[in-house]
Amino acid sequence: MLKSLFACGVLGVLLMPVQSQQISVCVEDDGDLRVDCQIEPKANKISSYEFSWSLGTKEALINTNVSGSASEAQFRDKSEVVELDPHGYRMTLKGFTETLPHNTTYMCKISGQVESINVERDHLAPCSAVSMFLKSPWSWITSLLLLVYHTHS
Ligand SMILES: *[C@@H]1O[C@H](CO)[C@@H](O)[C@H](O)[C@H]1NC(C)=O
Ligand SMILES: *[C@@H]1O[C@H](CO)[C@@H](O)[C@H](O)[C@H]1NC(C)=O
Repeated sequence: MLKSLFACGVLGVLLMPVQSQQISVCVEDDGDLRVDCQIEPKANKISSYEFSWSLGTKEALINTNVSGSASEAQFRDKSEVVELDPHGYRMTLKGFTETLPHNTTYMCKISGQVESINVERDHLAPCSAVSMFLKSPWSWITSLLLLVYHTHS
């Protein structure tokens, strides 16, 4: 009983940083910028998304389907949004990775809830590495469970 409580606690701690990270930014293999926004929309709200970034004090709207607001012309045809499973949206932006300013704040808004993350250009990770990182808690848990199992059999 105590042991399983302990295992639950460890599991919770390992999963928490992943769960609370509702926005992530990375660079795809082909050089496109990818912003994943995994805010869970409230059940009673119309689902809508808005991706933007802020360079210093200047905010630019990259892609949205909020009725009444429009993204900046320079991003049309360059950005694309797809739905993520089980919830959230992924925005990809072509052709800006090379010219990103040093320090950028990426923001996304889903049904009125906002998440933001500040990433320096030099710290932009390739998406393949990010997905490895996101999977790693599971390999940790698997090893842990195997260890517990083995020491008791
Ligand atoms: C925005 O797009 C999503 C997914 O394509 C759709 O479910 C939602 O209704 C759209 N929202 C608006 C305000 O058009
Ligand atoms: C980047 O910008 C954010 C928000 O404006 C600021 O808090 C942070 O200190 C800046 N980082 C660097 C390294 O300039």
